Amino acid sequence: MSAKGGAGRKLPSARWLLIAACLIAAVTMIGSMQRRPITDVRLPEAVAAAEEVDDELAEPPYSDIPRPLRPHRFPASLSPDEREFWRQPDGGGLRPCVRPSAAYVAESPKVVAEVERYLIVVVSGGLNQLRNQICDAVVIARILNAVLVVPILQVNVIWNDFSEFMDIFDAGHFKKVLAGDVKVVASLPAGHAHKKPSEEKHIPFHSEPQWFLENFHRRLQEEKVLLLRGLDARLVEDLPRDLQKLRCKVEFHALRYARPIQVAGRRLGERLWTPGPYLALHLRLEKDVWVRTGCLPGLGPELDEEILRARSLAGPKLLTSRKNLTYAERRAEGMCPLTGEDIARLLLALGATNRTRVFWAGGAPYGGERALAALRAAFPLLFNKESLATRGELAPLRPHANMLAAVDFLLCLNADVFLPSHGGNMAHVLQGHRAYAGHRKHITPNKREIAALLAKESVTEEEFRRRVRRAHGEEAMGAPQLRMAKKGRDVVAFPVPECMCRKRARGRGRGQGG
Ligand SMILES: *[C@@H]1O[C@H](CO)[C@@H](O)[C@H](O)[C@H]1NC(C)=O
Ligand SMILES: *[C@@H]1O[C@H](CO)[C@@H](O)[C@H](O)[C@H]1NC(C)=O
Repeated sequence: MSAKGGAGRKLPSARWLLIAACLIAAVTMIGSMQRRPITDVRLPEAVAAAEEVDDELAEPPYSDIPRPLRPHRFPASLSPDEREFWRQPDGGGLRPCVRPSAAYVAESPKVVAEVERYLIVVVSGGLNQLRNQICDAVVIARILNAVLVVPILQVNVIWNDFSEFMDIFDAGHFKKVLAGDVKVVASLPAGHAHKKPSEEKHIPFHSEPQWFLENFHRRLQEEKVLLLRGLDARLVEDLPRDLQKLRCKVEFHALRYARPIQVAGRRLGERLWTPGPYLALHLRLEKDVWVRTGCLPGLGPELDEEILRARSLAGPKLLTSRKNLTYAERRAEGMCPLTGEDIARLLLALGATNRTRVFWAGGAPYGGERALAALRAAFPLLFNKESLATRGELAPLRPHANMLAAVDFLLCLNADVFLPSHGGNMAHVLQGHRAYAGHRKHITPNKREIAALLAKESVTEEEFRRRVRRAHGEEAMGAPQLRMAKKGRDVVAFPVPECMCRKRARGRGRGQGG
């Protein structure tokens, strides 16, 4: 086998030259790979963009809130397809880092001092809308150098919820975690409580910090108390890094659920988690979702008629966008929530089987059991919080839609794999939390491709599987994504690069390159 022996067999010399050249090239390549500094190894874009910090500067994740239950190890009996289904994405070793810059820290004593400027915010909507508005309220208080009064939850008739901040969140914890960023008080001090506060209802969408300063700083100086409401998407997505980190700190650390929710979430969570891996679905199959999206539930002409009727009564203002598309066009564009049947087909193609344990979160599906039939047929081990709970266990939370939504939130957070059937606040907030917890598998369904494949009759089972898998690459499975890769992304849904860092490669000192 030696070169000498080969030459003895009189091989054409050109061929030998070629082999030698390849050998030299290979040796050179290996040599240069070894010499190349570690940071030049190609990292996924999102991982490479994250700041490098020394190990001791990276926060231990979840030191101040209960850690989500960890993903399972694979049981030995799984098929290769099932292994693929449960496989976690490569998180690139990114870890939470919300520690602010030295300049921010130097400013902080002034901000948290005893100032006589109070910001009151009234937040409204479903659980995850509340979370988003509260994050921005804290940041606005910081920008305005004002004391934040614990947010007031607007009584919500749609969600049938009359809870207060303290029913849903742990107010003491909120105050403590943010102590170095913003001063938070439970209520206005007596000297200010009697006056009607100055109120501003018309904040333009996506306003810059400068806008808040120009419009409110003076007013706060003079009137001392400012009341804001309707903060949904009013603060711009792109903020200086320290303020992004503050958003993350509120979302991922300060907004801990109140004790009764934690207890219920823990209890049901362990019941669900202990037997093995599970998938969580966030289903959007409620009647109002079908009405508002301009889509149809696909459960037969009767139910479709009912939705069309409800929509014509509500008028076109309820449709989300592009009013002139027909249902078929909307579905083809990927604008419709996935139905139970779509989800079953998708999951089976991705490697789930009839022994996959499935938890579903969400409101009552329109059409009742019929809407779940395809899912239940494919996945007999199908649960929701009601079926997991023993009698009376959820009773204390039941009057509050947002408290029940919080239990769903925790059960989805713990899941090995999460799939939302349609976007929305819950899907986004969970995507962020699961990324922050170490990029746990989050499936973003390619609804356009799924609709196209299901509309064609000639697609074989094998072809369907192949095309579905091709349409769901690593990023659709929850691998790190750069927030700025698309416009309008929120840092609490995409915490890279502002709120997650990577560990500095060994042997490279601080301040060197980076
Ligand atoms: C929708 O279609 C109607 C007529 O079919 C047309 O008058 C209207 O301008 C269209 N609207 C949009 C937003 O395209
Ligand atoms: C699950 O599917 C297998 C075949 O893939 C079948 O043999 C088995 O009976 C099914 N189990 C249930 C509970 O449906």
